Amino acid sequence: MQARTKEIFILTCLNLSLLFSAQKTCPKCGNLEIPYPLSTNPNCGDPNYALFCDTSQNILYFAALNSSSYIVLNIEASMRCFMVRPAPWIPGTCTTQDMPKSEGIWLNQSLPFNITSSNTIFLFNCSPRLLISPLNCSASSLCHKYLSDPAHVDPKEQAQCISGPGPCCTFLAGGLPSAYKIRLHASGCRAFRSVLHIDPEKPPSEWTEGLEIQWAPPPEPICRTQIDCSQPSTCTREPNGRNTRCHCNIGYYWDAFSLTCLRVAHHRHSLNRVLAVLVVLGVLVCFALAVIVILIKSGNSTVFYFCSKNSHKGQHDLLKIGGRSERMFTWKELQKATNAFSKDRLLGSGGFGEVYKGILKDGTAVAVKSAKVGNLKSTQQILNEVGILSLVNHKNLVKLLGCCVEAPQPLMVYEYIPNGTLFEHLHVRGDCKTLSWKTRVKIALQTAEALSYLHCSTQAPIYHRDVKSSNILLDEELNVKVSDFGLSRLVQHGLSHVSTCAQGTVGYLDPEYYRNYQLTDKSDVYSFGVVLLELLTGKKVIDFSRKDDDVSLAEYVKRRARDGELMSTIEETLVVDGKTDLKCVKLFAELALDCLREKKEERRGIREVAEVLHSISMTVEQG
Ligand SMILES: *[C@@H]1O[C@H](CO)[C@@H](O)[C@H](O)[C@H]1NC(C)=O
Ligand SMILES: *[C@@H]1O[C@H](CO)[C@@H](O)[C@H](O)[C@H]1NC(C)=O
Ligand SMILES: *[C@@H]1O[C@H](CO)[C@@H](O)[C@H](O)[C@H]1NC(C)=O
Ligand SMILES: *[C@@H]1O[C@H](CO)[C@@H](O)[C@H](O)[C@H]1NC(C)=O
Repeated sequence: MQARTKEIFILTCLNLSLLFSAQKTCPKCGNLEIPYPLSTNPNCGDPNYALFCDTSQNILYFAALNSSSYIVLNIEASMRCFMVRPAPWIPGTCTTQDMPKSEGIWLNQSLPFNITSSNTIFLFNCSPRLLISPLNCSASSLCHKYLSDPAHVDPKEQAQCISGPGPCCTFLAGGLPSAYKIRLHASGCRAFRSVLHIDPEKPPSEWTEGLEIQWAPPPEPICRTQIDCSQPSTCTREPNGRNTRCHCNIGYYWDAFSLTCLRVAHHRHSLNRVLAVLVVLGVLVCFALAVIVILIKSGNSTVFYFCSKNSHKGQHDLLKIGGRSERMFTWKELQKATNAFSKDRLLGSGGFGEVYKGILKDGTAVAVKSAKVGNLKSTQQILNEVGILSLVNHKNLVKLLGCCVEAPQPLMVYEYIPNGTLFEHLHVRGDCKTLSWKTRVKIALQTAEALSYLHCSTQAPIYHRDVKSSNILLDEELNVKVSDFGLSRLVQHGLSHVSTCAQGTVGYLDPEYYRNYQLTDKSDVYSFGVVLLELLTGKKVIDFSRKDDDVSLAEYVKRRARDGELMSTIEETLVVDGKTDLKCVKLFAELALDCLREKKEERRGIREVAEVLHSISMTVEQG
């Protein structure tokens, strides 16, 4: 009896300690150990890494989109991988069960899983028109070897597959977009199989079937209260998530491999304390300011017009919004600064108007841009838009310093960026070799981050609408400053922009625009895809010296990609330089093509594009 009580007591303690331990590992599912962070119920693992354990049959399932789920065959914790079984055949047909249900396997890209490049994918029952570049549908393709082997395919299904109209195809998964989906479709292929770490020399009966899925290193552990956080960490809500996690204290960083908070080198304790206090103060001040801005905005939206009519009186009216101050410039002041808009101060001219270099009285260099488009909004509306644009604050966006509405056309005053545009660096200076592969990846990433900020982080999404290499300025350290964002907001809505052609630039313009005359977030993604191609090929976006069909760079590269010659379009200096990791170059190229898909629904959002570029850049930095 006594022993019994003791046992229960110990068990209770164990349970409690497990409950409070932040990194709780889930119990086995059948014979399978479930390593952290995989999670089969809300009380263990990490909820982002959910699997489903059918406890009545002891089968573990991995759920993909469109309610398809796949049986997990084994888990390799050290590689952060597990293997699932692809959907079975629909008996007697050359179609797999997930074709009608979910059009193949689609992973939710918000979740930390992807399909690895250890998988060789065989597609069957394909439409003959399906011959995109990475697929090998030739008669010598390995899929024929697989199909002929009775160990893998039942005679009935085999007969169906062989008699079908289309060939079978083979490709290596893991690239974009096959890291997240293997698509089956009535006008594509209707069945797929996967072999892991294929050895083409071995007989097909020795090939291992299964689809390998990898999970990303886990973030900080989930917590309910501070008690759950044993390490030097604090239980706080994640920036834009639902969960609270044990975020490492200042002076520590999260190490996903040891699952602990490690000490940042070269930091002394006392300094950390001071920093912590400063950060807390900073957060409080920001919070207070945010509250004030919200109060002002909700109270009376006209307060938001920072240059009101009255402000014409003063020369240097300052008005503070959210702690920043913008300036109202006078016409006289800007004329003086730009030497009366003299030709030798002209920096460039674009769809929107001309840009002049100006030197203010205090010696600050600025760029003054005129808005030379018909059908502008009223002065008051323009001031309102300028108010919105001046709230934009990101290290890779050119800062708007102020505006002037006294001039015949509104003038916008920006910070001056000294080192020219990406366009000049790639195509004009003739020293394109100075842009190394590493720099190009950095430029791409910073541009994507700036656009992502415009699309996602501001209160009202701002679409750039004219992304191109001549709008990407570079500073002395070749850091990106994207300019000209949001200027299209100054133009009246309606059809005016069609006639004035103020929006978009030929060669960069989303093909969907010709269909519905609307530019969306995905139009920026398309234009950005063209910029990626410029970085990759060093070629001009429109070049009439190329063959007729190849005048447009996007068409030129897409055609080469369809012919399986994507890598031949890449600028020679990038390929010749032995240090360049061609795998990354290829990922980059595939990402560009992904941005350039005809249908906007098929393009990724800019945020995902930025994420992919981030991982490419990490690899390039290490390499
Ligand atoms: C599967 O899910 C994706 C993403 O949610 C969606 O685009 C696609 O149309 C779905 N397919 C089917 C057959 O429901
Ligand atoms: C993808 O995962 C996110 C995060 O868990 C979730 O909010 C979202 O609904 C999922 N998307 C789909 C289509 O299931
Ligand atoms: C297709 O795969 C086979 C077998 O691996 C290979 O011999 C052939 O060269 C490949 N064809 C193409 C076009 O890649
Ligand atoms: C797949 O995920 C792993 C780990 O999260 C990552 O290292 C790898 O780059 C990803 N691959 C792709 C193609 O996204």
